[in-house]
Amino acid sequence: MYNESYYKYTKDDIMILNKVSSKNDEVLILRKPIIEDAKSIIEYLNKVGGESDNLLFGKDEFHLTEEQEMEYINKVNKDTNALMILGLINNEIVGIAQVYGSNRKRIVHNSEIAISVRKKYWSVGIGSAIMSELIRFARESGKKNISLGVKANNQKALKLYEKFGFQKIGIHKDYFNINGTYHDKILMMLQI
Ligand SMILES: CC(C)(COP(=O)(O)OP(=O)(O)OC[C@H]1O[C@@H](n2cnc3c(N)ncnc32)[C@H](O)[C@@H]1OP(=O)(O)O)[C@@H](O)C(=O)NCCC(=O)NCCS
Repeated sequence: MYNESYYKYTKDDIMILNKVSSKNDEVLILRKPIIEDAKSIIEYLNKVGGESDNLLFGKDEFHLTEEQEMEYINKVNKDTNALMILGLINNEIVGIAQVYGSNRKRIVHNSEIAISVRKKYWSVGIGSAIMSELIRFARESGKKNISLGVKANNQKALKLYEKFGFQKIGIHKDYFNINGTYHDKILMMLQI
């Protein structure tokens, strides 16, 4: 009998969450990560960080080793309060997102989300498809609130969040420092 705490999520455990068509008719697979994805996830994050100034890290600023990423994948897949989603087109990672929250009883009904899509796939519906899955998970796992933070001039992300009903609830002044220039973070939330 295996011990759950040593269980590794491998190819046998692939869990497809959804399969949808993008606006340019490509098949987008949304699934949970497995440990074999670790290298591609690190490569993805190091590339996507350089494709906009809107994430918390820039190009080549994601520093986990493959082993650390594998450990993270196992941890997040076991956490009933969290979901990591990979979006793949033709076996290439084109988007990654997460919903996560605390296990503490007093705040377990809250969750936060983070999302990114590779630049060459922007505006074809991938962000929206991923967002639907994040909200579905939050709802099905009994969450009441979803919150997020977005750089104030990130129009595309603001549009995406407003489309799903998120409302602006505050501003964290000068949260981002992008090459010496400060930018506010807009705090948003959705009650589900
Ligand atoms: C923000 C981001 C996730 C959006 O993903 P996406 O796959 O491009 O989103 P979608 O194609 O589903 O578009 C969502 C909505 O954004 C708006 N939108 C999309 N493209 C747009 C454009 N070129 N101009 C203005 N609004 C646009 C539309 O309202 C669209 O909804 P609709 O297609 O129903 O009209 C993506 O641009 C991204 O990863 N950016 C870099 C990282 C980032 O900013 N992450 C968010 C940090 S808070």
